[in-house]
Amino acid sequence: MANDAAQVMKQEVGKAAASRVTSGTIVGLGTGSTTAYAIQFIGERLQSGELKDIVGIPTSFQAEVLAKKFGIPLTSLDAVDHIDVAIDGADEVDPNKNLIKGGGAAHTREKVVDYLANQFIVVVDSGKLVQRLGESFLLPVEVIPMAITPAMAALKKLGGQPELRMGVKKAGPVVTDQGNLVIDVKFDNLSNPEELEKTINNIPGVLENGLFVNCADLVLVGEIVDGKPVVREM
Ligand code: A5P
Repeated sequence: MANDAAQVMKQEVGKAAASRVTSGTIVGLGTGSTTAYAIQFIGERLQSGELKDIVGIPTSFQAEVLAKKFGIPLTSLDAVDHIDVAIDGADEVDPNKNLIKGGGAAHTREKVVDYLANQFIVVVDSGKLVQRLGESFLLPVEVIPMAITPAMAALKKLGGQPELRMGVKKAGPVVTDQGNLVIDVKFDNLSNPEELEKTINNIPGVLENGLFVNCADLVLVGEIVDGKPVVREM
């Protein structure tokens, strides 16, 4: 039942974000189960003729596959000079609209696309809202494979408890779309995300971490009020 409610919230918030996309724009397509609904609805608006001349920049193989399935033409960052709007999910959102992302191991490409966008819209269900980042979700860090041991040691030195992310229905570790590994780190006191984001990215061999600070322009939150799904702006 709780699961159904989460799906309904994801669907509604995905739809709300998709309805903000306008014709003739370049759209960053995020990753994850919530953004998947946004991609679906953008595709449906295109097929119905309500939207025209959209081109998408995918943030992952998942986004690419979904965009193709729902008929959204794709391009790459080599072919465009800007992104009008990016729609993407998050694993945690704090009151300052700072985020933890990377639950789907796609945060590196997501960061490239989401930061480039003139408007970055975050789509979450209300279960993602936290008072402080790191409360419920571990911080994902993408690391090149040969640096995994020293990077884990460096993350421990920073006060974190790192663990290598393992595959589901796949033996061995998760391998990212770039061929790297992901370390999930528990920090007991993640009080300064802006500084921690930079400090972690300075560890040799770290490609990118999942802290998105001062990046989101708009957070759309799906929630259930009086038994009905509603979407509000944070
Ligand atoms: C992908 O790496 C993530 O950043 C996702 O955007 C994030 O995990 C949110 O995914 P869901 O919408 O599936 O919760």
